[in-house]
Amino acid sequence: MPHTGRHFLQIPGPTNVPDRVLRAIDNATIDHRGPEFAVLAREVLDGIKTIFKTESPVVIYPASGTGAWEAALVNALSPGDRVLMFETGQFSSLWYAMAKKLALDVVLVPGDWRHGADPDAVEAHLRDDNAHAIKAVCAVHNETSTGVTSRIPEIRRAIDRANHPALLLVDTISSLGSIDYRHDEWGVDVTVGGSQKGLMLPPGLSFNAVSEKALAASKTSRLPKAYWDWHDMIAVNKTDYFPYTPSTNLLYGLREAIAMLHEEGLDNVFARHDRHAEATRRAAAGWGLEIVALDPREYSSSLTALYVPNGVDADALRATILERFDMSLGTGLGKLKGRVFRIGHLGYFNDLMLAGTLAGVQMGLDAQGIAHGDGVGAALRYLAETPAGTRTLVSA
Ligand SMILES: Cc1ncc(COP(=O)(O)O)c(C=O)c1O
Repeated sequence: MPHTGRHFLQIPGPTNVPDRVLRAIDNATIDHRGPEFAVLAREVLDGIKTIFKTESPVVIYPASGTGAWEAALVNALSPGDRVLMFETGQFSSLWYAMAKKLALDVVLVPGDWRHGADPDAVEAHLRDDNAHAIKAVCAVHNETSTGVTSRIPEIRRAIDRANHPALLLVDTISSLGSIDYRHDEWGVDVTVGGSQKGLMLPPGLSFNAVSEKALAASKTSRLPKAYWDWHDMIAVNKTDYFPYTPSTNLLYGLREAIAMLHEEGLDNVFARHDRHAEATRRAAAGWGLEIVALDPREYSSSLTALYVPNGVDADALRATILERFDMSLGTGLGKLKGRVFRIGHLGYFNDLMLAGTLAGVQMGLDAQGIAHGDGVGAALRYLAETPAGTRTLVSA
């Protein structure tokens, strides 16, 4: 039987695209070298800076997030450069694998996939590096495979305490526009972002916010780059155009999404995500399901990853929920495959969408015969008792 009504897309990205953004994307494709495009380009190139909270240039690539990862590495670094990375989950592992492919000398700090990048380990590694061989510290702000948010301001302070010149590169693909983030204030050199999560757009755009220090480093960096070269992009962006064909229609969507985020107010956006995350954690506790994140300071406000009980296949539960209730939940990635499912509560989202999401999970647990408590009840009580706008968790 075909499903009716709206599909629930509750993976941690791509997220639900608001109708306003879809309607904007639906505009006619225009000449990307004509005067009308220049107006759009200026608006999005300026507007996106307010989301990264930076005065520095933000490069917009017609690529998924992985492209922006590569752009960050090839622009900032040279073959054989040492970089410090952290095994926080599947996405940090993929970024690590990319850095190895690019012939970087990666020092990987091992992790248990339940904690974020450790600021003390940053400080210890940098203090040991008297010769300043480490050229960059790379961290994933929000590990989408685990629902763990690394404490970037503390990592910045650790670098400063060690008095080390390494660049700080941060992946905000599943935090930008959902979790407080401040490129300039936190002294980040390259921030990598993507369109398909907190920015409420379809996949296909990705970003590098680039500090002056990173731009200076890129002038002497020797990793090969052509398509990803910041300098070509930034030079042509100054004239309100792109050096190659941009994703015109996604840029219409981006303009709309930036406007929506500011209409709500970024602080309200973050508070909304904090509140929905807390409600989801209450649901998990009510069900008796353990969440992956262990340190409350690192709980993610954009997604929650939950373990299923031993002997249960998380993907079988997800399949039942998709088949019976038409809801997509995130699969367990890498070594969490089959052990974990992930609830995305980011992007264009509200209380009743969360209530429906959690109800779908609870009905799935019933349908699979998995013993559980009343997680939905716990979450709904929390939502009812906690008016929107109440800040429950400060991630900075
Ligand atoms: C934290 C993080 N980094 C990188 C990526 C890779 O981005 P993409 O799949 O858009 O290439 C993702 C994708 O989900 C992600 O969540």
